[in-house]
Amino acid sequence: MLTAGGLFAVLCFGIVVPGQALEEKNAEEAPVSGDSSQCLACHEALHPGIVEGWRKSRHARRTPAQALEESELARRISSEDIPEELMNNAVGCAECHTMRPEAHADTFEHAGFDVHIVVSPDDCETCHRTERQQYSENLMAHAYGNLENNPLYQQLVISVNGIPERKEDGRVEFSGNDPQTYAESCLYCHGTKLSVSGTKARETDYGTFDVPVIDGWPNQGSGRVNLDGSLGSCTACHTRHKFSIEEARSPSTCRECHEGPDVPAYKIYMNSKHGGIYSSGHKDWDFSAVPWTVGEDFRSPTCATCHASLLTTPDGTVVAERTHAMKERLPWRIFGLIYAHPQPVNPDTSIIVNEQGIHLPTTLDGDFAMEYLIDEKEQAARTETMQSVCRSCHGDNWVDGHWARFENTIRQTNAQTLAATRLISEAWKEGYNRGPEQGESPFDEHGERIWSGLWLFSANHVRFASAMAGGGDYGVFADGRYHMTDRYLELHDWLETQRKLSETAEAK
Ligand code: HEC
Ligand code: HEC
Ligand code: HEC
Ligand code: HEC
Ligand code: HEC
Ligand code: HEC
Ligand code: HEC
Ligand code: HEC
Repeated sequence: MLTAGGLFAVLCFGIVVPGQALEEKNAEEAPVSGDSSQCLACHEALHPGIVEGWRKSRHARRTPAQALEESELARRISSEDIPEELMNNAVGCAECHTMRPEAHADTFEHAGFDVHIVVSPDDCETCHRTERQQYSENLMAHAYGNLENNPLYQQLVISVNGIPERKEDGRVEFSGNDPQTYAESCLYCHGTKLSVSGTKARETDYGTFDVPVIDGWPNQGSGRVNLDGSLGSCTACHTRHKFSIEEARSPSTCRECHEGPDVPAYKIYMNSKHGGIYSSGHKDWDFSAVPWTVGEDFRSPTCATCHASLLTTPDGTVVAERTHAMKERLPWRIFGLIYAHPQPVNPDTSIIVNEQGIHLPTTLDGDFAMEYLIDEKEQAARTETMQSVCRSCHGDNWVDGHWARFENTIRQTNAQTLAATRLISEAWKEGYNRGPEQGESPFDEHGERIWSGLWLFSANHVRFASAMAGGGDYGVFADGRYHMTDRYLELHDWLETQRKLSETAEAK
């Protein structure tokens, strides 16, 4: 096959060796700007890891002007109005690290340049506008505020990170959310909020620099709040300084944050037929081709295939458009909060308050807070988009059969969650645990922990297994249905025991 890369190799080098298109491409070179050459002169010796990563990237080998010459489907940049002075050089150290200096709180005077350390999505936007704008529509981009600005989720944070203290009445209270702990626990994935707290003088072989001290850094969380106010870090999936598409298409990239047990996508994927085929075959697949041709470049989907990639058939027909807004293919939020529900309209979920006054998209009785969620028409459109991906390898009947089971599983697991929630609500009413009705955290006592494990771990396993694998181990005995029923029974017996104990106490 002649890929876009291969075609370019033919034009530039007049040769095409099957399977070597990529190596040919690695040999390309683009002129490096005078500014970036100065950075390289020092940083080559200081940070060979950074410089070599960059040299192997497409940024080092292609100019924006060359990139714009590609056909629309093969194009890897999306901004049409790239400033003239950036057009004809490689995208080097200075191009990124001196971009928009006035916008970044960490800009510092460095070797005669105004350099900032944290290159942000708004810098990338200069050349990748579509990706930047779509990404901001993701829950991922809002992951910091979605935790930080939701009082209920803050109670979860404290009950996980806090230091327990036994009170005189025998109850346990968790206190404090130490910022460094928060940064490497929840915010490791969700993203921290960066701020500059000062500068410190660093003595080097090249003289003394005043470098900014950045609180909340390092961090590459999906919703990091940056020093120019933008949200997210593109490096969550395209690590510096290679910024590669191959890496983003590999399931191990998503694994870092999506392994579970609350968010078990990766292990369920690896355990699925798709994951099995990926494991045995991916070494022969082409992870760099743009567009990505189903059947030819790969024969089983990765996370990217189903959720993000631009896919075509071998004759060039588009199967699915590329999107950095993952929601475009998601009708449901299968990550229960506390029930699976239609996707939120707004990726800032901290604005959601259900009719019980709780900051959740579903009530404790399982009703959806529809005012904040997408309607059936939008769900149908997104289902169609996701299914069009499946249909490039599966027949209609297969897809319909799979989907019917999946939506049934949403109803079944929601019903099981409701049964357990009735038990914990009784416990709250009768005072054996104290929850929202008493204005207290629903996560910090024993009965509550059994209850939250049921929906946060087991129900999520069952639904993810259903959606992405059609069932299997993680839907049943590997923290699946067996554990949902187990946890129900445990909660039930715990509550009965509490009642008996209090009857005995009253009788005395
Ligand atoms: C005269 C040599 C020199 C030149 C030219 C130079 N740097 Fe540096 N840079 C350094 C040294 C030395 C450090 C400190 C390294 C350390 O402490 O690890 C540094 C640190 C940095 C840091 C990291 C700051 C931190 O500690 O987190 C960045 C980012 C950076 N340089 C970018 C650039 C860019 C972009 C250019 C070109 C516009 C550039 N540098 C040009 C020598 C240089
Ligand atoms: C959650 C993971 C993830 C994050 C975060 C992410 N990307 Fe991507 N990116 C991908 C995937 C997956 C692909 C491959 C798409 C395909 O196969 O068509 C990709 C492809 C790309 C490409 C190459 C093709 C194209 O779209 O032109 C560019 C450029 C890109 N991303 C830029 C960005 C920028 C800029 C950001 C930050 C605003 C970003 N990405 C954040 C996952 C991510
Ligand atoms: C495409 C844009 C881009 C280019 C080109 C680029 N960088 Fe970066 N650089 C980034 C991003 C993004 C980060 C990560 C910042 C963060 O999110 O923490 C980064 C981080 C850094 C850091 C701090 C990382 C650490 O581990 O301390 C240094 C130093 C640095 N870059 C130097 C360089 C040098 C030297 C070059 C040229 C060889 C270069 N960069 C080219 C975007 C770029
Ligand atoms: C000055 C313009 C410019 C800026 C700024 C820029 N890029 Fe790029 N980007 C390019 C060009 C040019 C290419 C190569 C396109 C090609 O090969 O056709 C590219 C390619 C990419 C690719 C695809 C690589 C692949 O393996 O296919 C990714 C991913 C990417 N950039 C991410 C980023 C991220 C993230 C940032 C910000 C940290 C960024 N870029 C900043 C111009 C830019
Ligand atoms: C390993 C990465 C990771 C860590 C660590 C992590 N999360 Fe998450 N979190 C995720 C992912 C991934 C999702 C999205 C799951 C999905 O939609 O399937 C998520 C979603 C959430 C949501 C839903 C937010 C919303 O409204 O959209 C809450 C609440 C949450 N996490 C709480 C926490 C708390 C509290 C902690 C720390 C105690 C934490 N998370 C730690 C990865 C992580
Ligand atoms: C650095 C951590 C991180 C990485 C890497 C990451 N994610 Fe996420 N992802 C999150 C967090 C955190 C959330 C939940 C945000 C929330 O609910 O507020 C999330 C949510 C999602 C969602 C829910 C829908 C939405 O609108 O965001 C999807 C789908 C998703 N991620 C897919 C992916 C894929 C595919 C990859 C790999 C290409 C990936 N993620 C890589 C952290 C990450
Ligand atoms: C065969 C296609 C396919 C593959 C491969 C796949 N997914 Fe999914 N994913 C789905 C479907 C279908 C859903 C359920 C649709 C929905 O929630 O509306 C889903 C749901 C999700 C969700 C839940 C979104 C939410 O808001 O609750 C996340 C997160 C996610 N996938 C991440 C991943 C990650 C990470 C990988 C790779 C390890 C992956 N997926 C692999 C098809 C796939
Ligand atoms: C790139 C091709 C490709 C895409 C896209 C794809 N699949 Fe598959 N899928 C396969 C192959 C190949 C198998 C293995 C079939 C076999 O067992 O012979 C498979 C197996 C499965 C299985 C396992 C069934 C079983 O009984 O073992 C399920 C479930 C499944 N796919 C669902 C989906 C869904 C849902 C989508 C879309 C969201 C999808 N697939 C997209 C190629 C694909």
